[in-house]
Amino acid sequence: MKDILVTGGAGFIGSHTCVELLEAGYNVVVVDNLSNSKEESLNRVKQITGKSVKFYKADILDKEALDKIFKENDIGSVIHFAGLKAVGESVRKPVEYYHNNITGTLCLIEVMKENNCKTMVFSSSATVYGVKNKAPYTEDMDTSTATNPYGYTKVMIEQILKDLYVSDNEWSIIPLRYFNPIGAHSSGLIGEDPNGIPNNLVPYIAQVAVGKLEQLSVYGDDYETPDGTGVRDYIHVVDLARGHVLAVKYALENKGFEPVNLGTGNGSSVLEVVAAYEKACGKPINKRIAPRRDGDIATSFADASKAKALFGWEAKSDINEMCADSWNFTKKNPNGF
Ligand code: NAD
Ligand code: UD1
Repeated sequence: MKDILVTGGAGFIGSHTCVELLEAGYNVVVVDNLSNSKEESLNRVKQITGKSVKFYKADILDKEALDKIFKENDIGSVIHFAGLKAVGESVRKPVEYYHNNITGTLCLIEVMKENNCKTMVFSSSATVYGVKNKAPYTEDMDTSTATNPYGYTKVMIEQILKDLYVSDNEWSIIPLRYFNPIGAHSSGLIGEDPNGIPNNLVPYIAQVAVGKLEQLSVYGDDYETPDGTGVRDYIHVVDLARGHVLAVKYALENKGFEPVNLGTGNGSSVLEVVAAYEKACGKPINKRIAPRRDGDIATSFADASKAKALFGWEAKSDINEMCADSWNFTKKNPNGF
């Protein structure tokens, strides 16, 4: 069995995927520039699995460094997580986002080609469904528009990968369109460790629960949803990580370009998530109703049937388990890693 290169493997989703890959018996090589993560996450991966990844601190924009990684290892496939992901920051720094995410991916593809490695699983996002499609989202819907530069990096990278496959049918490429990943490994050793004040709902609630932030703002209670608050398809990060193990196996056995949703197929409202978190942490979450946030939509959830048909994958955890695992990580690591 050849090695799997995981770009961005020290990050939130990458570290959980390393655990699942190691437990499935794969050899894992990680490249990460640690711009949004700490090497400690990989020490924790070792604590959980008893196995180590081979770590290179390097930037995917550095083709020489990438080439060296390919020459020193026997890499048969790549799971490509490395990228910048903060929506608001991408609006302020679009060039940095396009350069890091798109040029970084182009560098990676070039080095893969030079080393005759043509199998890639890519971190895409439900953000590619834009604002015009209606949930449940299916993979055949139009994905040509996004609402911010971050989202456009995913739209454009998917297009690049599709064109690459059309030009050379030896490639096998699976963009995984994640819905809203939350939660943490059940050990409480790895989880999400955002820089600064979190923008996303569950990391924000976690910091209110642990006493670092005062109050959650619920962005709008007048949407056309059952309780008026936004509905999203939250997915446990460990379910998501398991999806990558199955996707890479599928990609190694089948050539093609196949975008696949990873979601549960169910939506939860902001108030439902708050209630689940209150149950998990055993205390009330201080909150107020605030105006809608720019760019938000009422409802987003996946049609998750393609992942089941193609890889036999289904999400297992419900919102209560996701919140319980988030809280377990947060209370054990109140200041992150
Ligand atoms: P993360 O920031 O925790 O992980 C990304 C990792 O990539 C970090 O460790 C960072 O240091 C590294 N990195 C960034 N640029 C790099 C570069 N040029 N060279 C080398 N390493 C680099 O984020 P995450 O939540 O684990 O997300 C992983 C991927 O999934 C990203 O591509 C993200 O856009 C995508 N995604 C995330 C979500 C989410 O909600 N977390 C949703 C949809 C898609
Ligand atoms: C956001 C990004 C999306 C990205 C995803 C990563 C936007 C517009 N979209 O999705 O591109 O891929 O994160 O997970 O930023 N909410 C509150 N109070 C808060 C934070 C959020 O009420 O403090 C609400 C939001 O209005 C929304 C829900 O909680 O209804 C989820 O928000 P969030 O976690 O930010 O995810 P998305 O907006 O779905």
